Amino acid sequence: MAKKRASRSAGPTYRIAVIPGDGTGPEVVREGLKVLAAAAETTGFHYETTEFDFSGARYLARGGDPAMPSIPVITEEDIAALKTFDAIYLGAVGDPKVAPGILEKGLLLRLRFEMDQYINLRPVRLYPNVPCPLAGKGPKDIDFVVVRENTEGIYTGMGGVQYQGTPQEVSTQINCTTRFGAERAIRYAFEFCRRRNNPKKMVTLVHKTNVLTFAGGTWFRAFHEIGKEYPDIKKDYNHVDACCMWFVKNPEYYDVIVTDNIFGDIITDLAAIIQGGLGVAAGGNLNPGGLSMFEPMGGSAPKYTGKNVINPIAAIAALGMLLKETGIHKGDKKLVEAGDRVERAILATTPKMKSQAAGRMGYSTTQVGDLVAAAVRKNA
Ligand code: IPM
Ligand code: MN
Repeated sequence: MAKKRASRSAGPTYRIAVIPGDGTGPEVVREGLKVLAAAAETTGFHYETTEFDFSGARYLARGGDPAMPSIPVITEEDIAALKTFDAIYLGAVGDPKVAPGILEKGLLLRLRFEMDQYINLRPVRLYPNVPCPLAGKGPKDIDFVVVRENTEGIYTGMGGVQYQGTPQEVSTQINCTTRFGAERAIRYAFEFCRRRNNPKKMVTLVHKTNVLTFAGGTWFRAFHEIGKEYPDIKKDYNHVDACCMWFVKNPEYYDVIVTDNIFGDIITDLAAIIQGGLGVAAGGNLNPGGLSMFEPMGGSAPKYTGKNVINPIAAIAALGMLLKETGIHKGDKKLVEAGDRVERAILATTPKMKSQAAGRMGYSTTQVGDLVAAAVRKNA
């Protein structure tokens, strides 16, 4: 059932679709929305939210088979409704009772494909006073951005399985790489690097060109050809395995990374851990010219559900990204400023917390939300 809440003041109104989802999703989204209210109040933009109940729980309640996809997790009508919004804010989707792949493909991947959210943007930033598992590394060392291609590679679902359950079983999972897909991700990364304007001014392409010579070749050629349009930016290349090593050894080396879908999936989890864990890692599924969706990277965390102990910082950071990226897309400086304000409020809050791990923060979920909302109001 959709629920609406409008800000009181008149003026242009941004419409945000909210999908709290499963497990701890609703708890962290609630804190994000608390911070959204504070940001709107202090920077003076208008918004309304509409809640959608897409989730594993809804799939099961509607009679979905937990073992195999039997009904759509979201329907054509759901998609059509979402498409009318300015942005989507997602909590978490995942239910231990539902077999792997059903909700992922039926909801998250479906939305990425339907909305053509071809960029997965993952800022990797170690916030102040957040313990880092890497010896001797601090916030100034861990500050880079991964631009992950989000609609191609081995995520397209091309391939199949034959003779399933027999000794002759054979499966293929095709790495569908197009020049078009690589090119738009690469261009986005170069533009992002320019905007970010870090003194390193470098884009690193991450792939595996020594083995995946076909797909890697497409990426490599696109990278260097498009790179010519950006003479101010240094071009760099890492094999994905070496990149994993360097994330641990010298993360300060990186500025902006661009990579394909599965490599991006894997390296951003490694990146999440060096930035302090899933409690703080946020991401955006972007269609830079259309409808984007923002989410904390952590899952639905069933064992912490309903305990008011989960860390909402990642969800709040995702909300900050939502404001900033929507502001860039709509050309609205107020929204960009609101996003920056949320990020500054997070920077002011993490030093007060004992830990970023669930249950060990020294505060409850709602208290952390209150702290960030207060910091937004103070504009620290
Ligand atoms: C992510 C997730 C998803 C992915 C899963 C849940 C389908 O791991 O957003 O990184 O692999 O892209
Ligand atoms: Mn992942």
